[in-house]
Amino acid sequence: MIVILGATGNTGSVAATTLLARGENVRAVGRRPERLKKLAEQGAAVFTGDVLDTEAMTRAFTGARAAYLMIPPDFTQADMLGYQARVADSLARAAEQAGLTHAVTLSSVGAQLPAGAGPISGLHHFEQRINQVRGLNVLHLRPGYFFENFLMQIGAIRQFGMMGGSMRGDLAIAMLATRDIGVRAAEALSRLDFTGLQTRELLGPRDLSLQEAAAILGRAIGQPELRYQQMPYETFQALLTQMGLSPDGAQRINEMYRAFNEGRVVPQEKRGTDNTTPTTLEQWANEVFAPAFRGQGVGA
Ligand SMILES: NC(=O)c1ccc[n+]([C@@H]2O[C@H](COP(=O)([O-])OP(=O)(O)OC[C@H]3O[C@@H](n4cnc5c(N)ncnc54)[C@H](OP(=O)(O)O)[C@@H]3O)[C@@H](O)[C@H]2O)c1
Repeated sequence: MIVILGATGNTGSVAATTLLARGENVRAVGRRPERLKKLAEQGAAVFTGDVLDTEAMTRAFTGARAAYLMIPPDFTQADMLGYQARVADSLARAAEQAGLTHAVTLSSVGAQLPAGAGPISGLHHFEQRINQVRGLNVLHLRPGYFFENFLMQIGAIRQFGMMGGSMRGDLAIAMLATRDIGVRAAEALSRLDFTGLQTRELLGPRDLSLQEAAAILGRAIGQPELRYQQMPYETFQALLTQMGLSPDGAQRINEMYRAFNEGRVVPQEKRGTDNTTPTTLEQWANEVFAPAFRGQGVGA
């Protein structure tokens, strides 16, 4: 049996359904039973529990052949890195108590940076804490920037006809579809072909800048003139707090984008077949973004 945390989320849902389709036994973990219902209908055993509840996570991991470990994002936390550290510690203690032997984690490109990269540095410490679990073989997946982040731009596009943020518009970065992370996690969890402590970056089909991404997304929604506009860190911070992020959550996001802008968040692996993922932004824009923009899908 394989445990999937965040089983109703972007990556976890794909990992869970991919494993179920391969005939694996899956224990799907989330906080809300109603959101897990669809996976139960597909044959998963569902488990409700909070990642901060070490006792519940110990029960979730008990008897598992392997687990997918992730830190659910929560930018409303007053202390973002403190929250990430608490989740990391809870999952590490639960893995140890349950005698877990194999885990795939969801980390990030840039997770080699112990400080100065906002939540990505939180994922550095997540990796380090999981690495301390005795007897655990672990594969840390380090994906680039999620295409799904663009769903959060839908409101700005509708209201102002543009995309914006504090990341530079001309910076080509690794970007990918979360479905490809879920598939890679499922493959690793099914094969268990990793030992010791390993990392694997996932870089999408090619590097793209936010300006290039805006043009691709614009074409998919019939707004070929769509542009991305970089804004000052202070303006973006104010916008994020208006959207409900905590001051620290908003500041940590800016810290992360500043680290990108200054060239500190960069892949450590050369691009090759092992870290290139298949879904293009053009494909994702047509299949996910455009329906969401028209109000027919997620993020609308
Ligand atoms: N965005 C990016 O560009 C990027 C890049 C690299 C890495 N990452 C990392 O990717 C991760 C997010 O992955 P994702 O997009 O797959 O996640 P997601 O779609 O946000 O899903 C989060 C999942 O966790 C569950 N959850 C939320 N809070 C929980 C809690 N306290 N206890 C137990 N379950 C909880 C949610 O279900 P319920 O709400 O029903 O419980 C949901 O299934 C983050 O760690 C982020 O740092 C993001």
